[in-house]
Amino acid sequence: MAGWKKRVIAGALALAVLAAGSLLPRPGREREAEAAGPAKIPAGPYVALTFDDGPKASTTAALLDGLSQRGVHATFFVVGENVEGNELLLQRMEGEGHQVGLHTYHHKSLAALNASDFYAEVDSLRATLTALLGRERFMLRPPYGMMNEATQARAASPLILWSVDPEDWSDRDTKRQVSVILDNVKDGDIILLHDIYPASVDTALQVVDALLARGYRFVTVEELFAVRGRTAENGKVYRNLPPQE
Ligand code: NI
Repeated sequence: MAGWKKRVIAGALALAVLAAGSLLPRPGREREAEAAGPAKIPAGPYVALTFDDGPKASTTAALLDGLSQRGVHATFFVVGENVEGNELLLQRMEGEGHQVGLHTYHHKSLAALNASDFYAEVDSLRATLTALLGRERFMLRPPYGMMNEATQARAASPLILWSVDPEDWSDRDTKRQVSVILDNVKDGDIILLHDIYPASVDTALQVVDALLARGYRFVTVEELFAVRGRTAENGKVYRNLPPQE
């Protein structure tokens, strides 16, 4: 547990450092307030881009290039069998400040699995990622968003769903996908895309450009918890993290 908490605290500190170093874009009024006092976490709005089902060599690398050019971090819920042969991409994600999470080894619906199959799907991927990235705590996105009480009891990870879904798997229409996202996004949302389609990479980068222009800050899911001052609990389900009332 200490590892998890440390990572959340490290995320908060990293954000504070980013804010202090002016690396994050922010409105002028906040900049003045920060100049006058100690670094504080900017108010937002925040959004987390998440990508499922990868990695895929061509599309994921292009996405990482585009995110890097824009200085934006995202979260990748990876499938174990797609990690094989793409280990360097995973290490690149981690090294460039993105978050890597679990999406099962073979993209199985967790609600349909018995206990031993569940642990085979989730723990085998966790072990693969631990060997590759040197840490043990990963958030879990259930394939298809399918889960039940047994899933929650077995997860040993926070369960991360989403609040904005352009259903990018259903077409390759970047224009439609971008407008669905831009028409629906709000502070604290978690956007679902898939980094295995070229059109989805285009969608993601267009959304980044549009939302940066609207003053949004892109964070990983872990960073989103940190800026909201919340702790991600194992077995709990999260769809978004709106600002506290
Ligand atoms: Ni999936």
